[in-house]
Amino acid sequence: MENQHALHQRAPRNRTLTVSPEEEPIYRERLLNITGPVTSADIEGRIINGDIEQIAGFLPEAFIDLLIADPPYNLTKNFNGREFRERSDGEYAEYLESWFVKLLRLLKKTASIYVCCDWKSSPAVYQVLNRYAIIRNRITWQREKGRGAGANWKNCVEDIWFATPGREYYFNTGAVMVRRKVIAPYRAGGIPKGWEETEEGNFRLTHPSNFWDDISVPYWSMPENTDHPTQKPEKLMAKLILASSAPGDFVFDPFLGSGTTSVTAKKLGRRYSGVEVNTEYCIWAEKRLRRAEEDRSIQGYRDGIFWERNSAPRARARKADGGPPDKRGGTEGGNIQE
Ligand SMILES: C[S@@+](CC[C@H](N)C(=O)[O-])C[C@H]1O[C@@H](n2cnc3c(N)ncnc32)[C@H](O)[C@@H]1O
Repeated sequence: MENQHALHQRAPRNRTLTVSPEEEPIYRERLLNITGPVTSADIEGRIINGDIEQIAGFLPEAFIDLLIADPPYNLTKNFNGREFRERSDGEYAEYLESWFVKLLRLLKKTASIYVCCDWKSSPAVYQVLNRYAIIRNRITWQREKGRGAGANWKNCVEDIWFATPGREYYFNTGAVMVRRKVIAPYRAGGIPKGWEETEEGNFRLTHPSNFWDDISVPYWSMPENTDHPTQKPEKLMAKLILASSAPGDFVFDPFLGSGTTSVTAKKLGRRYSGVEVNTEYCIWAEKRLRRAEEDRSIQGYRDGIFWERNSAPRARARKADGGPPDKRGGTEGGNIQE
């Protein structure tokens, strides 16, 4: 398959992933096609090119520690030739249920489940999860970008529902602390109270909440960016993976897209696998996985800490010297990690 997107002329600072015609067969060769039962060892570290609804029955029982599902939202959207059509809320709930029930068998009893959606798809996701699992929370993340509308509010947040099949589950708050700038640096007896004084400024570590406003969507100046129309940021997946899985746990994504879940899981030392129906997206994901062997950095996450947008020292330094522009021509989301 030719990578149409790779043939486009890119701006000099555009770091969006491309796959050359020479590379393409190498990555295609690595893709897994499943036509019968497989073990977790067969699929570990692999990208399965197929339709989750057709292959879920071939996947092994109780292998998933963490399920991250980012399905098509209830919007009309073209995923590289395969269009998902907007439907009624009831029909969307039926669609969600049709694949979700097939995944239940694959989950460990102690597994965690995250399902991504927008405001419109959110009630259906709640309805379906509530039928089969214990709902634990709803994360809202501010994705910054969004189209303005003439007679409506701009849509710039998304939800991620968190649920578990059972009462016992893994959760590591300490792994997802957020480092924020201190606005009112209070001292007791001259000593910083609950914050740290550093050469780069004053910071405090805060507990993560279910509102995430510290994430930039992938921009063309970021090395993680691909041409996938709904790519999630690695930083977002990193939060889910670090909070809800231990090193070595198995992370599975049935709607892998450009591979963000698997790439981030690999960078964080988890086992992983995922399914994607579109072969070109799979090939992009393979290239990202290959790159992750040399570069384990995750933009916005460093030294075990999630940095507020642009608060990491290197990001500020780059901004001062006119660092790389993002898709909107600003510097936000510049290269904190390179
Ligand atoms: C919202 S996107 C996921 C984006 C992904 N999280 C990323 O960061 O790139 C949904 C993906 O599901 C894929 N898809 C849709 N139906 C599918 C199916 N039945 N089986 C497997 N993949 C499917 C689409 O091609 C699309 O890439």
